[in-house]
Amino acid sequence: MSALRSLVLGCGSYLPERVVTNAQLSNVVATSDEWIVERTGIRERRIAAEGELTSDLAFAAARRAIEHAGVKAGELDLIVLATTTPDRTFPATAVRVQAMLGITSGAAFDLQAVCSGFVYALAVADGMIRSGQARTVLVIGAETFSRILDWSDRTTSVLFGDGAGAVVMRAEKTNGAANGKDRGILSSHIHSDGNYADLLYVDGGPSSTGTVGRVRMHGREVFRHAVVKLASVVDEALAANGLSRNDIDWLVPHQANKRILDGTARKLGLSESRVVVTVERHANTSAASIPLALDEAVRDGRIRAGHLLLLEAMGGGFTWGASLVRW
Ligand code: ACO
Repeated sequence: MSALRSLVLGCGSYLPERVVTNAQLSNVVATSDEWIVERTGIRERRIAAEGELTSDLAFAAARRAIEHAGVKAGELDLIVLATTTPDRTFPATAVRVQAMLGITSGAAFDLQAVCSGFVYALAVADGMIRSGQARTVLVIGAETFSRILDWSDRTTSVLFGDGAGAVVMRAEKTNGAANGKDRGILSSHIHSDGNYADLLYVDGGPSSTGTVGRVRMHGREVFRHAVVKLASVVDEALAANGLSRNDIDWLVPHQANKRILDGTARKLGLSESRVVVTVERHANTSAASIPLALDEAVRDGRIRAGHLLLLEAMGGGFTWGASLVRW
């Protein structure tokens, strides 16, 4: 019996030019390079220029992904853009990117799952490809997270950065039963539990305050849940494909904090050399962090055709999830 699966054709990313180091931040809030590096592994982050919007970052990443994939923008029939920091409350930033790409057909929408946004977007796009609703899909994670930070709050402002990453996927016919050796998205597993909404949130919004609001977080609690929930969803993804931890070539995690990455890698028994880490240079770019890390490791030759990638993320909501991808 033939079935459809999502083959990843290419990837791309974009970072704003401006670098802000920990030392520079220590002029803004009472913090230090030592504290930030020891607790998070972050050394610097990129911050979007004035007037540079999420759509600009997303468009730059999308163009590179489209070129890398060797497709024409007009072939795209779906754009899913994961973001927590849209240009406007509406219309969707995805629609703006669609226009910037010169596309007038197909569909485009935003998806909001905070730091888990890219894994959620992959799951949705993969589902639409498998069900025949879309054929060539652009999945983007893009954020200007700096715009929702409270720059007087040292417990959050030091943790985040801006950036964007994207992949292009295409429907591919496969014959016979699903097989972990086939290339493409093997499976995605997404979860949420709204009971934890008050541990990590933005204290504003169009329906509540009429303002954009700023990020608030109980960091220690988030950390505790992240390690447990990530380990559980990773096991779920491996079990669903009859694969084991030893089969993973690369862990491409959401880059929240080096200590969370180390904790997850330890639980998986993966050596540090098999984890793609960008958090020291990018900080936490929310929905953009996985495609940014993925693109870096693909372009520098670490990730190669046939490698098994494990993508995982957790974020506000709580939301969390994992995808297994045969590159
Ligand atoms: N600089 C200096 N001191 C600071 C800073 C800072 N930037 N931030 C907090 N502190 C102080 C606190 O005020 C506190 O001081 P006190 O003891 O005098 O009250 C002390 O440092 C310890 O604070 P904690 O919050 O207990 O520090 P902790 O060891 O938990 O580290 C951190 C904080 C880094 C936020 C950690 O909890 C963490 O990484 N949590 C995960 C949060 C996360 O990554 N969220 C991202 C979104 S969710 C996701 O992507 C998974």
